Amino acid sequence: MSNKNANPASIDKEKISRVVKAMLQTPTPENSQPWTIVACDHILEIFHSSERAKLATFPDDLSVFGIGMLVETLELVCSNEGLEAQTTLLLENRSDEAPWLRVELTPVERRPDPLGQAIFLRHTDRRHYAAGSLNDPIFQNVRREGKASQGSNLYFINEYPDEYLQLLRNADQKVMEWDELRHDLMNWTRFTNKAIAETKDGMPWRSFLRESENWVYYLRSRVWWLATCLDWFPDWLQRLETRFFDDSSELSPLSYDDGAGIGCITTMSASEEDLVASGRLTLRIWLLLNMNGYGFQPLSNLSSTIYPLQTGRLNLPKHLAHLVENGYEILQRVFGFSKQETPIFCFRTGVAKGEYPENARSLRRVNEMTFKKNLEQREVHAL
Ligand SMILES: Cc1cc2nc3c(=O)[nH]c(=O)nc-3n(C[C@H](O)[C@H](O)[C@H](O)COP(=O)(O)O)c2cc1C
Repeated sequence: MSNKNANPASIDKEKISRVVKAMLQTPTPENSQPWTIVACDHILEIFHSSERAKLATFPDDLSVFGIGMLVETLELVCSNEGLEAQTTLLLENRSDEAPWLRVELTPVERRPDPLGQAIFLRHTDRRHYAAGSLNDPIFQNVRREGKASQGSNLYFINEYPDEYLQLLRNADQKVMEWDELRHDLMNWTRFTNKAIAETKDGMPWRSFLRESENWVYYLRSRVWWLATCLDWFPDWLQRLETRFFDDSSELSPLSYDDGAGIGCITTMSASEEDLVASGRLTLRIWLLLNMNGYGFQPLSNLSSTIYPLQTGRLNLPKHLAHLVENGYEILQRVFGFSKQETPIFCFRTGVAKGEYPENARSLRRVNEMTFKKNLEQREVHAL
């Protein structure tokens, strides 16, 4: 039950810190963590760094989707903290200088949403999935989430036609052949424990592993590292990479044929509201699955290109166009969504064997949180 007369000034700083820390757990592409959260008493402003979110800024659809994920995390943590979050999206004429989201917190009495318990548990699991089925009762709840969402939809498949697998393989190839994208990917891959500890961002190479560590994976990561250092990535290495490895470092794309299935989240229209809604739905499903022992790995190489191509916001370099040709039509045939909808996010899910290795977890930059006495001081720098 809400208590509108509650005084925002009574929210203590510890509580606000917990809200912000939870928000910083929100996943971002390549763990680039492009958000800076500025807190001033009970008001939060969220700024975006397009330099950090480079992958998402081809154009920035995945960042708008990401704001949806942030808003959902905020809702969940506020439900646990006895707070109400009044959010204002500021996505028109967006830039790095102005906040994308403004939040006003008020104390209320409310029932916690159990999903909030999974915020710190959630992670990307790229391992082989040994079990899991779409017939598992948990998927009834997952589908219910899809139905409850306004502005986005959810679809699942557990059989993969050849044309779809070929498209997934092509999307991986696209990353290898698109210089800017490949450099960005390398930029966020962390090959040493020292780099992981220093930057607290990016993806530790162990998080790519399908199975326990072995010399093939290690050698592969070292070749990538060397190629990055030398700024050298010859055609034959690109071809070898995509021929033999997918996002999960396994024979591409056969490895997708494991676990429960592949999910696809669509937006009902090209509006920003629907993109935000799809981010919110994605976060809820991710948490729900992780909370119930299911692994979750985004497969966004394909959908992140199809979405802006479909909405006319992406000029794909000409030499890459053939790799995603008819991508929208193929996805529509495979997942069965309506012509009005656009796919924005795909993921595989299933149950992996054993605990997720601690040393494969990605880290969070804690200096993205700034406390200020006065929000009018617009310049953003961490304390
Ligand atoms: C919008 C979005 C797209 C992503 N795309 C991929 C992807 O295509 N392949 C993949 O393996 N991981 C993908 N990820 C997972 C991120 O790399 C991961 O969330 C990030 O490194 C943080 O790690 P964590 O999820 O374990 O906390 C994506 C995440 C988000 C939020």
